[in-house]
Amino acid sequence: MQTHILEETAKQLVAPGKGILAADESSASCQKRFDSVGVECTEETRREYREVLLTTPGSEHALSGVIFFDETYWQTTASGKPFREFLKERGVLLGIKVDQGLVDLPGFPGEKLSQGLDSLPERITKYHTAGAKFAKWRSVIQIGPDIPTEECIGANTFVLSRYARICQDHEIVPIVEPEVLFDGTHTSDCAEEVMGHVFDMLFRTMRAFRVHLPGAVLKTSMVLPGKNSGLPIVTEEVATRTVRVLHEHVPSELGGVVFLSGGQMSGDAFNNLNAIAKMGPHPWGVTFSYSRALQDPVLKQWAGNRGDKELAKHVFSRQLDRAIAATSGNMKREGSHDTFVTSGQDL
Ligand code: 13P
Repeated sequence: MQTHILEETAKQLVAPGKGILAADESSASCQKRFDSVGVECTEETRREYREVLLTTPGSEHALSGVIFFDETYWQTTASGKPFREFLKERGVLLGIKVDQGLVDLPGFPGEKLSQGLDSLPERITKYHTAGAKFAKWRSVIQIGPDIPTEECIGANTFVLSRYARICQDHEIVPIVEPEVLFDGTHTSDCAEEVMGHVFDMLFRTMRAFRVHLPGAVLKTSMVLPGKNSGLPIVTEEVATRTVRVLHEHVPSELGGVVFLSGGQMSGDAFNNLNAIAKMGPHPWGVTFSYSRALQDPVLKQWAGNRGDKELAKHVFSRQLDRAIAATSGNMKREGSHDTFVTSGQDL
C-alpha cells in the first residue's frame, strides 16, 4: 500500500478553502430530480447538465474533487474532451461512486445494506487506470422504532471497511459514508447517540481490516432532529452536537471529514457548516461534499432556460462562493433557501 500517496490525496481533498462536488447521482436519482423540474432525463440531458457544472468558470478554485457516477465518468464535453481530462487539466481530483445501491437487509424490516463488493476489485482497477484518485461508498442507517439494529450497523461497517481496504490497495482514497438518515421523527439526542455508536463500530472495523486511516476520509451527516419530528433545526445546536460527536468518536489520525447535505434546505446546510467550521480547530480538515445543497438552485435555473447556460453557471458559482465561505466559518448567516427536499434513501 502506497500510504504517502493516499495521505497526500486525502490532504488535497480537504485542503482549506476547497470542497467536493457530489455529482454522482445514479440515473434513477437523476430521473426523479429532472422530473421535478420538467426536463426529460436521458443520457444526453444528464451529460449536458453535468457539463454546465463542470465548466462553470472558477469552479476549479473552489473544488478539490468531483464525484461521478459510472455513466458520467466516461462522458465528454460537447467538444469531445472526456470530463476526466477536463478536470485533470484544472487540478480537480477525480472521484467515483462505487457502491451499487441499496438492498433490503433480509430479516431486518426497514434496514438496508449497500452492495457491490464482489465486483469491486475489477471495477476499481479500471477506474484507477482511467485516472480516479478517490472513491465513495454510501451506506444508510435509518433511525426508527427498534432500529438501527447492531446487525445492520455491523453489516454496513463491515462492507465499508472491506471497500476501503480494496481502494487503498489500488492507491485510491476511500470516502466512507455511513449516512445516518434525516428521515424520521427522532430527536437530535437520538441522532447523536446513533452516530457516535456507528462511528465507534466503523473505525473499530476499519482498523481490524487494516485500513490506513490517514489515507481515508469520512463522509457524514450532521446531527439533526428527524425531518418529521416537528423539531426545528437550530444552527448552534447542530454545530455543537456534530462537533462533539466527531471529536469524541472519530480518530484524530483520519485523513479528513466531509459532510453531505442530506436533504436539508440549502441555507441550513451552509449555515450549519459555517457554525461547525467556526468551532474549530478540528483534528482533521473539514469541508463539504454536497449534492443537493449545491445543485438544486442550479438545476432549477438550467431547467428554466436551457438556451442560456451562462445563467445556470452563474448560480452554481454563487453556490460555490457560499459553500467556500462556510468552510472557513466566515459566511454571513442566511435564511433557509428552499429546495425540493427529497428522501434520503433516493440517492
Ligand atoms: P446530498 O448532499 O444531496 O446529501 O448528497 C451527498 C451525497 O453524495 C450522498 O451520497
